[in-house]
Amino acid sequence: MITIAPSAAEFDALAAQRIIHQITSKADSVIGLSTGRTTGAMHRLVGQWRQESQHDVSRLTLVGLDEITGVDRLYAGACYAMLRTEIADPMQLREDQLLMLPTKSDDFEAECVKFTESLRALGGIDLLILGLGENGHLGFNQPGSPFESTCRTTPMHAELEVRVRRETATPDDVPLGGITLGVKDIMRIPRIILVAKGTGKAEAVRRMLRGPITTDFPASILQLHPNCEFLLDAEAAALL
Ligand code: GLP
Repeated sequence: MITIAPSAAEFDALAAQRIIHQITSKADSVIGLSTGRTTGAMHRLVGQWRQESQHDVSRLTLVGLDEITGVDRLYAGACYAMLRTEIADPMQLREDQLLMLPTKSDDFEAECVKFTESLRALGGIDLLILGLGENGHLGFNQPGSPFESTCRTTPMHAELEVRVRRETATPDDVPLGGITLGVKDIMRIPRIILVAKGTGKAEAVRRMLRGPITTDFPASILQLHPNCEFLLDAEAAALL
């Protein structure tokens, strides 16, 4: 299903409504979230709703889809810091209600196993709000990621690496990377809302929905997902 919101503001409101509806219809919902420019406003709207309604969210769990590795998790560009500031703090969630992959560890492989097991113990993610990279990436699954991939560390996109190094003053000899749920993990989630807004995403949206299904453009696999809503604003939908 494709939903096109006439404006960015209506896009944010619709996405927030979807998240709020999930929370109010299942108190122990497990909701996966993406970070970035697309999702900040919708997260803040959900936080605002919770402050105004005082709805009981004590059984809710929010899950981060991916994370940057090698940085402090309080760095403003880390997924943890973004989700805390944008949604978990405004909703007054406890620390254990935000399940995230770590930014730092001696054994990321073991962290992926632990994260996957924690998700399983929660009964899995009910709804994933999924961002779209301009190159078709999903989470940190860059082009070339196998469709069978599961939770793992991945190389960081070169442009993002430059920005993160600059913003965190991380020297070149300290490795940076990504850690993410894999494409297979994403495809197993029963309900996904792919969110994309702005002119910069229009070509990616076209390739995702109208292009061939290929690992060269990971988001194209979503054409095969049985319950994925593509929520777009008019600019992102312009090339359909
Ligand atoms: C980042 C994140 C993804 C996010 C994507 C889109 O690389 N790792 O989780 O979905 O980029 O970001 P934006 O919304 O800023 O375009």
